[in-house]
Amino acid sequence: MSTGKTVALLFGLLLAAVLFGALSPSRDDATRLDAARVERGRYLVASIGCADCHSPKVVGPNGPEPDMTRFLAGHPEKDVLPARPQLPPGPWLAVVSADLTAWSGPWGISYTANLTPDMNTGIGIWTEDMFVKAIKTGRHMGVSRPILPPMPWPFFRNLTEEDLGAIFAYLRTIPPVHNRVPEPVEPSAPSTHQTSEVWTGPDLDPAIRIAAVPV
Ligand code: HEC
Repeated sequence: MSTGKTVALLFGLLLAAVLFGALSPSRDDATRLDAARVERGRYLVASIGCADCHSPKVVGPNGPEPDMTRFLAGHPEKDVLPARPQLPPGPWLAVVSADLTAWSGPWGISYTANLTPDMNTGIGIWTEDMFVKAIKTGRHMGVSRPILPPMPWPFFRNLTEEDLGAIFAYLRTIPPVHNRVPEPVEPSAPSTHQTSEVWTGPDLDPAIRIAAVPV
């Protein structure tokens, strides 16, 4: 091949490479997109306050705050609660454990889910589609039993699929925590089904317990 032809061929290849690069998204763009999505999800989770219910708490300078070593890990499996308190007739409807991860009301007892990517006990095996469906339809894993109060899915369903997808993308990035949250308890279940420990939590003093209940 003559030098002229070689140069022309190389130039052609170079041009093709440049055009191809300009027309197809590069790996860098995809990474940037992912990073932007994760950041959007982090922002939504932080400002909506999923951790208020889904994280066990530690006591900080201003009262209970999410325990970052168990961030969004749901109701701790080792915190076995006693029988749920029976409320007298009147306007009070629900009772919540000191760390806001167990809720008792007319729906029975619900325990906040483990939202970390742990494969066995969190949402590690969930797909984005399952997650979006769960929030949009209020069904466990997007298909089965109704998701109980106080999970505010009837409000969260107003988020766009894009934002819900971003939340899911972010939840993929938090550390997995092995914590098997108990199944919810039917309202009709005998009130003595559980033993030991206390609804008020051992390490919170009474003043903080009151502060922990949202108004
Ligand atoms: C007011 C308390 C509260 C807040 C705030 C809250 N959740 Fe929940 N969530 C719950 C409870 C309680 C459950 C368990 C309900 C049940 O077992 O049916 C739950 C369950 C879930 C589930 C599991 C559904 C399933 O299929 O099992 C997902 C996913 C979830 N929440 C995501 C979120 C996300 C994401 C946020 C923030 C955007 C959030 N939650 C904020 C209380 C809350």
